[in-house]
Amino acid sequence: MYETWEELEKSIENCNKCKLCKTRQNIVFGTGNKNAKLMLIGEGPGADEDRLGEPFVGRAGKLMDLAFEAIGLKREEVYIANIVKCRPPANRNPEDDEAMACMNYLRNQVILVKPEIIVLLGSVALKNILGKEYGITASRGKWIEKKGIKYMPTWHPAALLRDETKKIEFIKDLKLVLEELNKQ
Ligand code: URA
Repeated sequence: MYETWEELEKSIENCNKCKLCKTRQNIVFGTGNKNAKLMLIGEGPGADEDRLGEPFVGRAGKLMDLAFEAIGLKREEVYIANIVKCRPPANRNPEDDEAMACMNYLRNQVILVKPEIIVLLGSVALKNILGKEYGITASRGKWIEKKGIKYMPTWHPAALLRDETKKIEFIKDLKLVLEELNKQ
């Protein structure tokens, strides 16, 4: 584990811990407020993120920004990262070996940010962080507390593009998060 962001960011440059390094254009490390109380964890970069090196800058990310705006949350206030830092080809789900190879980077990011709340965006984030026994349909919208961190699983923003009712549930879950943040 690295004690500074500089060391951590340096350690990921040229990473070749898994096969995703062969097809990536850019490593998508993470972005936002490094002292945020709220962290969001997605799945992995898509084509736009791979091209630009930033998480959630494509269609799903833009929709997430709109949801943030609707409830008065600013992207600059949160820290955003992904389970894997390199794009899985054709946007497939990250495979277990890829998620495992990348997990220490994410653990280190969580240790450095020290968030009070982590929003898990979708099934891949939920299963890789809290365990394979969790399902997103049953878990979303409910707090799960582990090791002093409050987790809120919710839909992945890409799922909102396909289903209007999920948009409403996503905003509802984010509102719970905001309420909890404002309590502290
Ligand atoms: N989907 C994700 O899970 N993460 C991103 O950064 C972009 C799309």
